[in-house]
Amino acid sequence: MELFLDTAEVDEVREIAAWGVLDGVTTNPSLIRRSGRDFRSVVREIAALCPGPISAEVTALDAEGMLAQARALKAELPANVIIKVPCTPAGLQATRALAAEGIGVNVTLVFNAAQALLAAKAGAAYVSPFVGRLDDAGQDGMALIDEIMTTWSHYPELRTKVLAASLRHPAHVLACMQLGVHTATLPAAVFRQLLRHPLTDRGLEAFLADWAAVEAAGHA
Ligand code: G3P
Repeated sequence: MELFLDTAEVDEVREIAAWGVLDGVTTNPSLIRRSGRDFRSVVREIAALCPGPISAEVTALDAEGMLAQARALKAELPANVIIKVPCTPAGLQATRALAAEGIGVNVTLVFNAAQALLAAKAGAAYVSPFVGRLDDAGQDGMALIDEIMTTWSHYPELRTKVLAASLRHPAHVLACMQLGVHTATLPAAVFRQLLRHPLTDRGLEAFLADWAAVEAAGHA
């Protein structure tokens, strides 16, 4: 499973990339706003830290506008930047055109399996169903991931990767792993939560204490 970081904070990309497990990064306009920084500078810096796909989102609502923004971003930014478009009719139209030009597209704001299938048919490299936002709305976000993965299992010709997004806690990620999700994008805090275990910390403390005793005895 690919693991992406969902952030516009360059320091977070630097931190998680250093672990050697980071496959890509997703940004969105809200994350860019929260960073307080210039969009292109942030994406350029992130793209230099992580060789995997870096999603940069267009904001036009019409297909022509999306295509113009996407082509400008591709011209100005490093080659590993891919284009994020919303799951709308214009978004599908832009996806089809960009895919024909060999530009990777991540179709975002996917909230049902039919949207995911339509995005795949348009030629998306990734489709991004939002788990946490469905949970917020009183629905079961993981059930959507299950539906999409079941759909994909019926159509092995689909090359589009399912990118589980809006993941809020480790249990979401573990459930994605069980469902065979291709890609998950998670905040840095969830990366850290996944790795930490109190028994790892306690075991390491004990090993170090015992090793200190071995050294003190001159047996190292
Ligand atoms: O990648 C999409 C993700 O950033 C949305 O997450 O937590 O704002 O629903 P959230």
